[in-house]
Amino acid sequence: MASYLQIADDEKGHELDLFCVPRHYENDLDKVIIPHGLIMDRTERLARDIIRDMGGHHIVALCVLKGGYKFFADLLDYIKALNQNSDKSVPLTVDFIRVKSYCNDKSTNSVKVIGGDELSNLSGKVSPLDIVETGRTMQTLLSLLSECNPKMVKVVSLLVKRTPRSSGYRPDYIGFEVPDAFLVGYALDYNEYFRDLSHICILNDQAKEKYKV
Ligand code: IMP
Ligand code: MG
Repeated sequence: MASYLQIADDEKGHELDLFCVPRHYENDLDKVIIPHGLIMDRTERLARDIIRDMGGHHIVALCVLKGGYKFFADLLDYIKALNQNSDKSVPLTVDFIRVKSYCNDKSTNSVKVIGGDELSNLSGKVSPLDIVETGRTMQTLLSLLSECNPKMVKVVSLLVKRTPRSSGYRPDYIGFEVPDAFLVGYALDYNEYFRDLSHICILNDQAKEKYKV
């Protein structure tokens, strides 16, 4: 089973004043729950674990947009650093896919998938995504990928939510297991806002109203 850093349900987080947060979001957030530096440190270790397990396979890294773009870029930077500083290295290509399932802070029950031109080649794929809540998005993507018969597919999610809504699906690699709250920042959005925030934070109720569609 994948190991992960657990953020407890009673985690108090950190006061916003202790970190740099854009002025336009200052009144929208409760606490910083995962500071950017900690995200980076955990991502560096995930890169090492992935390279260790992939052996010599060519990796197609599939970015799941939009929420996964920061994690994808940083994870690949760490994989590149390992590739250029050790005796063993694995060839790496990239592809992008877009999925959409959320409106406000709720899943809409339909997962739309757009894009992905290299899905059908036979390499090992690593698919980094932002967060697994019910697991529905990833299960939809996995059934799509399996139609292309890849040699292997590994899923790495920065976050997995502890929630009774979970289908039981667990990714192969997990950065953090987080409480059942709506989180934003580091490319995770609420109706497209908060992707431009470096830290992962808890959204307050006032902001849920303010940015509601
Ligand atoms: P799932 O299909 O229920 O596993 O939900 C996964 C998708 O829902 C993610 O890729 C996000 O786009 C979105 N999502 C779920 N929880 C959150 C959250 O706390 N903040 C932001 N987006 C979320
Ligand atoms: Mg979203």
